[in-house]
Amino acid sequence: MLTSLITTKSFLLAFVLLALASSLASAFDPSPLQDFCVAIDEPKNAVFVNGKFCKDPKLAKAGDFYFSVKMPGDTNNPVGSNVSAVNVDQIPGLNTLGISAAPIDFAPYGQNPPHTHPRATEILVVLEGTLLVGFVTSNPNNTLISKVLNKGDVFVFPIGLVHFQFNIGKTNALAFAGLSSQNPGVITIADAVFGSNPPINPDFLAKAFQLDVKVVKDLQAKF
Ligand SMILES: *[C@@H]1O[C@H](CO)[C@@H](O)[C@H](O)[C@H]1NC(C)=O
Ligand SMILES: *[C@@H]1O[C@H](CO)[C@@H](O)[C@H](O)[C@H]1NC(C)=O
Repeated sequence: MLTSLITTKSFLLAFVLLALASSLASAFDPSPLQDFCVAIDEPKNAVFVNGKFCKDPKLAKAGDFYFSVKMPGDTNNPVGSNVSAVNVDQIPGLNTLGISAAPIDFAPYGQNPPHTHPRATEILVVLEGTLLVGFVTSNPNNTLISKVLNKGDVFVFPIGLVHFQFNIGKTNALAFAGLSSQNPGVITIADAVFGSNPPINPDFLAKAFQLDVKVVKDLQAKF
């Protein structure tokens, strides 16, 4: 009797904790309180909203929910890939909806370098080619979770974790990423650390990364 009482209590506690966790999870992009909320930049001096201001729904048109990506993207750059962000800046109708997309083109041996999305989990579908993908868990374990993906394979990069994609095939590759935010954000690790403006003190970075300061200055010149 006592045991079953305790079990019921811990079940209720678990239920309350789960409910709390799911309400906290929705704190990123809030659930829409209307059919849609097409973003506009006006009114300039109005109250802060978590997202963008909504257009009068009577004025919404198909173009507010539409964008066309130039395909294939130009991969003639140092990393050999091209990410076409399709978020609320491209499609104002995504405002408050908690979702966006990014088609990614890869030249042979092209890569999407280590980066993180501070506000979104990513789900990646490989449409063409062969990609080595992975993400690294947070401290202290820093476990690499990695897999080779072929056409039709789908992989998830959990929110906030550093991840990458690498075309290990001899042909072009194409993938489609869905992201759980209207504005996922991107932090490319090398650009943030070695390419900040103004630059981070090279002596500081040399100690942080256990590198010779000359190597740090070389990296800072590249990014
Ligand atoms: C990606 O491709 C588009 C369309 O071809 C091009 O305008 C853009 O400059 C490319 N971006 C990079 C980083 O190469
Ligand atoms: C992290 O590593 C520790 C020590 O090896 C281990 O006990 C723990 O289960 C690991 N945690 C995860 C989330 O893998």
